[in-house]
Amino acid sequence: MWKETNKKYSVFFTIFCYTPPLFQPFEVIILEIYLAPLAEITSKEFRLLCYEGGADGCFSEMISAKAVTLRNKKTISLSEIDESEPRTVLQFFGGEPDVIREAAEKILERVTPAGIDINAGCPVRKVVAAKAGSALMDDPERLGRIVKTLRGVTNLPLSVKIRKGFKTPNYERCAAEAVDNGADFLTIHPRLRTDMFTAGSCDFDVSIELAEKLPIPVIHSGDIREKSDLDRFSGTKIAGVMVGRGALGRPWVFRELKGGTVTDDEKKEIMTKHFRYYIDLDTKTARTMIRRHASWYSTGFRGSADFRRFIFDPANDIPQVIRIINEFFEIEL
Ligand SMILES: Cc1cc2nc3c(=O)[nH]c(=O)nc-3n(C[C@H](O)[C@H](O)[C@H](O)COP(=O)(O)O)c2cc1C
Repeated sequence: MWKETNKKYSVFFTIFCYTPPLFQPFEVIILEIYLAPLAEITSKEFRLLCYEGGADGCFSEMISAKAVTLRNKKTISLSEIDESEPRTVLQFFGGEPDVIREAAEKILERVTPAGIDINAGCPVRKVVAAKAGSALMDDPERLGRIVKTLRGVTNLPLSVKIRKGFKTPNYERCAAEAVDNGADFLTIHPRLRTDMFTAGSCDFDVSIELAEKLPIPVIHSGDIREKSDLDRFSGTKIAGVMVGRGALGRPWVFRELKGGTVTDDEKKEIMTKHFRYYIDLDTKTARTMIRRHASWYSTGFRGSADFRRFIFDPANDIPQVIRIINEFFEIEL
């Protein structure tokens, strides 16, 4: 059903209207806003907060296909989707079509995500060395084979997340491989692999141009922080945007991008729920996450530099960190 909708209209069911600047009074842009895949961050807990904060869909962090086939429990746990998550896509990375196929089959026996996404953008050396992530931009035929293989094992919506290129732009060639082999939609982070996440320009025009040319919906990923960042997509065929770093410490950013407001009390409520989840979990990872998310939430607050120094100081244990979080944000954990 989703696939039909995807082909006819846009990527997901829900749409929202973003009101453009006054000088275009009659135009309405229909965009969907997703949480981008972020390694070690877009866990189901964080995704649930982002849904509460207005996200139309969320992408899991990248899941190693190889590790799934080796039955690595921690990796397999990354594919868990909470039953209240309305629309979560699982993202896989890998360089071998058969390994990705086997991993997808294994995971799909356990969960039914809203879609499967192939990572063709990760710039990290270890991933690239395994011919995966952005290395696929350098080997478009391999990318095409991976899409084709996955298309053969699932009718779920299938997508690919690409970059502008590896060392030089070749996004059109890679996008063509995705389309020709059966992808239903595509996301582009318009930077080269050599730009990593921040260098170079995040070239919005590349996303816009690609959306004009492709017969499938295109989502833009990169440097979306404020409502005004969406103005560039006015009158274009971009179907949606992803928010990655802009959602760190701001899981309510989706609502704001849609023109809504979030009160300080609502923010405190979301934050409290987030921290309490990790406190109840009480694992080593949970303790690390409390510190990391507290640091992101503190952005823009007066005294945030001292606050961060305190929470990351190994001499301060978690009860001390929680005490300072309560004082700093005026919440009760
Ligand atoms: C810490 C971090 C982890 C990321 N992990 C992934 C990932 O697992 N899969 C992926 O496709 N992209 C990943 N990305 C790229 C983001 O999804 C996104 O394309 C990029 O950060 C640009 O968007 P932004 O400016 O909204 O953050 C990651 C980026 C960052 C900063």
